[in-house]
Amino acid sequence: MFSYGRVAAATLVAALSIVPLSRAHAEEADAESLVNALNAVFGAHKGLRAAHPHGFCVKGNFVPSAEAATLTKAQHFNSKTPVGVIARFSMAGGNPEASDAQKDNARGFAIHFDLGHDNTTDLVMISAPVFNARDPDQFLKLLKTVATHDTAKIGEFFKDNPNTTRQVQYLKAHHVPASFGTVDYWGVHAFTATNADGKKQVFKYKAVPVAGDVGLSDEDAKKKDPDFYRPELKERLAKGPVQFKLTAILGEPGDPTDDPTALWPEDKRKTLTLGTISITGFEDNATCDAGIFDPTTVIDGIEGPANDKIFPMRSQAYAVSFSRRAAP
Ligand code: HEM
Repeated sequence: MFSYGRVAAATLVAALSIVPLSRAHAEEADAESLVNALNAVFGAHKGLRAAHPHGFCVKGNFVPSAEAATLTKAQHFNSKTPVGVIARFSMAGGNPEASDAQKDNARGFAIHFDLGHDNTTDLVMISAPVFNARDPDQFLKLLKTVATHDTAKIGEFFKDNPNTTRQVQYLKAHHVPASFGTVDYWGVHAFTATNADGKKQVFKYKAVPVAGDVGLSDEDAKKKDPDFYRPELKERLAKGPVQFKLTAILGEPGDPTDDPTALWPEDKRKTLTLGTISITGFEDNATCDAGIFDPTTVIDGIEGPANDKIFPMRSQAYAVSFSRRAAP
């Protein structure tokens, strides 16, 4: 959810007020300090998310595959009728003006699955297989170091913490997505599925666009309007739903489940199709802004990773961001 490629000049001012690095290194991260650190890098923008503020809300449905039930007993993967979804596409980082053409920035795809009776379960993905910190402390250090704008310190941090550069390396090696509907998204964390027989399987989510992985050349990306994704999606939706195959990458013994910066050897892993996500139209942004997309809101049949410290921290940090953006 974070790119350190372009830090807005305005955030230099905010960066001046951060604590010295020596103290920052000693500090243990919590939800407040992480949101404050995001604000120090990107500025605090009233009424907006501390991360992924640039985005919009859409709606559609999810139809599970027949084989989804072999992996998990979770309600939405066993539904006989299409499951309604509300989703939000976004640009990572905390800059509300982030250009849709920015290459070294992940795209976000957050989904609420409607389980009926006002219940939802969420899936929050990005267009990279990894996050940029192993745990909340490393993320806080990363943010605080970037906020100094001291290139020597930043360079030293990345040299000492090479795992924090994996996401940006992935993004730089790929083209700018031509559309929110033509890029792969990953759930990043390792979840565990349980099926009706009690069989457990570790897996990672990946949403693969039915329209294919289509990108722009760097030249073409430069010519794009900073807000080109919304009109692009409008045109695409006029021709039919924008669809993704939701897949489960099946983990094998030894695949790390506690480190969201660790890559699995995806090309060597089996996958299972969980179903099809169809985005059918736009939804009022107020619908998406009325709460948080919380990756820890899972249901019976799916469990989050037990030892991945980033996972539970997300829920807490999103709640802090929500309470600030919802404040009058
Ligand atoms: C400790 C680590 C993390 C922190 C502190 C953090 C922080 C945040 C915050 C403050 C928000 C805005 C929440 C709101 O106001 O609703 C957010 C949104 C988001 N984050 Fe993270 N995040 C973390 C890890 C991750 C990871 C690992 C992913 C990878 C999937 C991710 C993907 C997203 C996405 C897609 C959104 C946008 C959700 C929406 O559209 O409402 N984040 N993050």
